[in-house]
Amino acid sequence: MTAARESQDSCNYLSGFGNHFLSEAEAGAVPHGQNSPQTVKYGLYAEQLSGTSFVMARHENLRSWLYRIRPSVLHSQFVRTANLNLRSRPFNEMEASPNQLRWDAFALPQSGAIDFIDSLATIAGNGDSSSLRGSAIHLYGANCDMTDRYFYNSDGDFLIVPEQGRLSIATEFGIIAIAPGEIAVIPRGIKYQVTLPDKSARGYILENYGPPFRLPHLGPIGSNGLANSRDFLAPVANYEQKSAPAGGAKFRLTNKFNGNLWQAEIDHSPLDVVGWHGTYYPYKYDLSLFNVIGTVSFDHPDPSIFTVLTSPSEVNGTANIDFVIFPPRWMVAEHTFRPPYYHRNTMSEYMGLIFGVYDAKQEGFVPGGGSLHNAYSAHGPDFDTFNKASQGDLKPNYVGNTLAFMFESSLIYTPTKFALESQHLQKDYLSCWQGLQANFSLDQS
Ligand SMILES: [Fe+2]
Repeated sequence: MTAARESQDSCNYLSGFGNHFLSEAEAGAVPHGQNSPQTVKYGLYAEQLSGTSFVMARHENLRSWLYRIRPSVLHSQFVRTANLNLRSRPFNEMEASPNQLRWDAFALPQSGAIDFIDSLATIAGNGDSSSLRGSAIHLYGANCDMTDRYFYNSDGDFLIVPEQGRLSIATEFGIIAIAPGEIAVIPRGIKYQVTLPDKSARGYILENYGPPFRLPHLGPIGSNGLANSRDFLAPVANYEQKSAPAGGAKFRLTNKFNGNLWQAEIDHSPLDVVGWHGTYYPYKYDLSLFNVIGTVSFDHPDPSIFTVLTSPSEVNGTANIDFVIFPPRWMVAEHTFRPPYYHRNTMSEYMGLIFGVYDAKQEGFVPGGGSLHNAYSAHGPDFDTFNKASQGDLKPNYVGNTLAFMFESSLIYTPTKFALESQHLQKDYLSCWQGLQANFSLDQS
């Protein structure tokens, strides 16, 4: 059993991507036959949460009805609070450059208590949350639970990629547990609280400002393959009745809004949804269930074959952002250079490593670290990898100890000051390719 699968053991889920689900923590909490009756069973309030505009086409329309103990409007006025290392548009602290960039892993906090939200540190971003285009790349590295604190994001969806430590994500819709090797998507607007079963946790976050994530079209692959719909899991309803102590400190409700953090006081847990139904909810996915498809003859398909989820742009066939993984797989290609080919890409690529070794980089690309190759910045296997792969025996080979991922965007990423001035930025990244020499010779047959 993988670490990823173990995290599912204590939670129940509803299976399927994009389904209309109904879940009740108490029988009859969701009204039958209508959404907003004059009174709701158990004295609950009915509230709709929209993930798309009201008039979005039916097959893309996302909304859920929540039946809750108190309506969401019960909170104090929001006031600005410190963004710390979290950044959003306009991404203009620094200039984007064509230079290839790579970072070592960022350390977990060594002192103090840093929860999931306070630990957010932005590496790079593009686009504009207010125009529904673009994305941001954040890291998290937390050492304490969110206590009496709740969060929601008005700007984008969080796709969370754990690299160390499990996360328990208590949401309005129920609890999602994820471990390294799994991901969770928390769509914008949904309130949640993150706790750390392993006392600390580190990982990556893709914040999607664009259209909601969807599964990529499969084209000639057919009706099965890559990430299969049934393996996406939504939580079952689970509410908490928790009030701030009379005369004591209130709970905090933190909101990322138009690029900044705002905070309100709230005297109860907002995770008080007793039942819900709809198409808009958080979900998780176990990356080990990805059905990897590759060549069984020669040459590589383009890496789009590894796409798990995509957020489209207004340009047909061009993603706002893709989430792509490079999981364990067999390599069997004949008379083929098996590592990823050298290339220059119109898309901009941020890569991270969850565990193991990536097959194009023998050294320097480490779990918790990352690399950024912006549009048309050349990249590919390092010197050592090229030499080994050019001379190796082409037996079928199982690449088992590896799980890398890529956030790939049609917009150029501008790194933040935090990222470019970090001691973890590798000053010698270019040197990994410098041993590559011109082997051209007319004497070769
Ligand atoms: Fe690439």
